[in-house]
Order: sequence, then C-alpha cells, then structure tokens
Amino acid sequence: MALRKIREIGDSCLNKKCREVEKFDAKLHTLLDDMKETLLLANGVGLAAPQVGILRRVVVIDLGEEGGMLELVNPVITHTEGSQSGIEGCLSVPGKAGIVERPQKATVKAFDRNGEPFEFTGEDLYARCICHECDHLEGKLYVEKVTEFVDPYQDDEEDED
Ligand code: NI
Repeated sequence: MALRKIREIGDSCLNKKCREVEKFDAKLHTLLDDMKETLLLANGVGLAAPQVGILRRVVVIDLGEEGGMLELVNPVITHTEGSQSGIEGCLSVPGKAGIVERPQKATVKAFDRNGEPFEFTGEDLYARCICHECDHLEGKLYVEKVTEFVDPYQDDEEDED
C-alpha cells in the first residue's frame, strides 16, 4: 500500500465527471488499498478517486471500528429518504466547513472490488458521506451546496476545554 497525494480545490481533477470502472483487476485493488490508507492517515470519513487524481468511479468510506472500510465501485444512489442539515467538510477543501442539506438516509448500489454487486444503506453521517462522495464522481464539491460556512475548528476548541 502507498499513500496518494490528496488533490485540493482548484485542481482540475476535482471538476471532472469520472468514468466507470470496467476492469476489477489488481490495479483497482491497489487503488482501493491506497485510498484506504490515505483516508485513514488524513483522518477523514470518505474519499473519492478523483481526490487522488484518478478519474474513476471509486469511493471508500470509513464506517468506524465495527463497520470497517466500505469500498464502493461504480456506486449509484437508488433511494434517499428524509433530510438533515449538518456540518460538512472535505479533505480537498482544507480549513473550511459549511452547513449542507442532505438526505437522512441513502441507499447505494455498487460493486465490490471483485465485481460482485451489493447494496448499502447509510443513515445520518453515512448518508451524508455517500452523497458527498458520489458528488465527487460527478465533479462536484460540497462547497457549491453550502448554505452557510462555519468555523471548521469549532469542535477542536471545545475538546480543549
Ligand atoms: Ni470530499
């Protein structure tokens, strides 16, 4: 595994629509492994391939200690429910955070690294994350959807008290 460089806002990779994965081969597996390592080190919740400069429809989401790492290849959101307003950030937009309206629940159809189809439903943070990462695959950043920017370091300061 190897770390990949996270592209930041202004990089043209972040504004392009990504192509579907056609080959579920060793190259894809390496990409997924590298993305997982990169995400863990960056302490993020989700990472999309265009964020590491690869214009393919690949996403990884950290579901926490119990859930492990979710790998989504060619994900398609098939159902959403409800709505939630919450604070969002992005590893490609450092030092910023903003309030974004997202569904409360999101179901995604995707393939695993071996090309097996599966379905996953995320709620709350994970519904937000699925939508955020799928937007990346369309070349869209969350900043376009922000209703209000907030202090990204708010939580950190609270922790110090
Ligand atoms: Ni992002």
